[in-house]
Amino acid sequence: MPDTTITRISGRRVWDSRGRATVEAEIELACGARGRAIAPAGASRGAREAVDLRDADGLGVTVAVANVNGAIAAALAGMDAGKQEDLDRALIALDGTPNKARLGANATVAVSLAALHAAARAHGLPLFRYLAQGRPMRLPLPEIQIFGGGAHAGRRIDIQDLMVMALAAGSFDEALEMTARVYHAAGELMRDAGKLRGVADEGGWWPEFASNEEAIETLTRAIERAGFVPGDEVAISLDIAASEFGAGGRYRLGLDGRSLDSDGMCELVLGWLARYAIVSVEDPLAEDDREGMMRFTAAAGRRVQIVGDDYLTTSAARVEAAIADRACNAVLLKPNQCGTVTETRAALDLARAAGWGCIVSARSGETEDLSIVHLATGWDAGQIKVGSFARGERMAKWNEALRIEEMLGRDAHFAGRSALPLKKS
Ligand code: PGA
Ligand code: ZN
Repeated sequence: MPDTTITRISGRRVWDSRGRATVEAEIELACGARGRAIAPAGASRGAREAVDLRDADGLGVTVAVANVNGAIAAALAGMDAGKQEDLDRALIALDGTPNKARLGANATVAVSLAALHAAARAHGLPLFRYLAQGRPMRLPLPEIQIFGGGAHAGRRIDIQDLMVMALAAGSFDEALEMTARVYHAAGELMRDAGKLRGVADEGGWWPEFASNEEAIETLTRAIERAGFVPGDEVAISLDIAASEFGAGGRYRLGLDGRSLDSDGMCELVLGWLARYAIVSVEDPLAEDDREGMMRFTAAAGRRVQIVGDDYLTTSAARVEAAIADRACNAVLLKPNQCGTVTETRAALDLARAAGWGCIVSARSGETEDLSIVHLATGWDAGQIKVGSFARGERMAKWNEALRIEEMLGRDAHFAGRSALPLKKS
């Protein structure tokens, strides 16, 4: 057995895909193995997320990096990187707040993931294999953004992500090939309409639309133009990110010039479900609208995946409450929303036991870090969300999944549509 005692922890400032500072942590073990990870950053963050610690200027990470090099390094040195739960528990205890407000979840998530990478390296295993520990795993079904919106596109439209899921794909490789066709078809439609304006934060086409519904309609046409049957072959997935324009039971859709109450917002999205080939909806109501989420799930939860992102913030406690409430049927898992690998895993375990969909997700501010691809595959989460089909920080993750699929060879199984928590009809 390799000696996985932590001998050195260091932090440094690096930069993300929006040109903003973020935290990288590097860990070295007694056996010589090293691991490294970078914290991502969100733009449409849930109010209950763990704290992304920034300097007094609101941007810098000097304090977060100093926490890695100081308090965290001192507390974790000598601990065993092979015992992830112990490490994460030590981070939680050292922080001492309910939301990583002292150390910063950007500091803790980088350290937690770096330790995981180092331990896998010590065992000579790619991270996904180290995580799977011999259990069966599947390549996740990807949901891939075609149009960006909301906080990722200067609020040009209200809906944040218009994505596709290649349900007819037999492999991850095929899912990417199908998505590439839809992505380019969508670009051609925008070009032909004289509306091509480049891309939004996650690489999706800039949403030059007159209404939110026109965006969904155009996505449907892009699927058809690429030669696929909407729904059966390539289906639509929306992230409404309703907390960005709704609170206190009021929803203000800037583009459509409408203000709706919770019932009205429910009806609006249910109308889209009735008219378009949508199989998944994220945060259809705001994070403070528990009744709305329950009503929406009661109305649509048998035929559509309903994902809690801002609503659940990768919190096991909130997942547990939402299971009891029947407020969603899937969880978005973003390690930096809670700040450690172990807490992310706890949210996944509860969701999976309830038969929910589980989607490991990137943030809108990303880097070359590939950890989430390994978590999604090694934990057999079933689904992954990374953003669009452009920009290096997104493509690096899709390409890593291709390498994993190739490494698994004959043992590679693609989760496909079975990853969706839908009743068989
Ligand atoms: P964020 O958004 O990373 O900007 O918070 C991503 C999402 O809402 O899924
Ligand atoms: Zn979201």
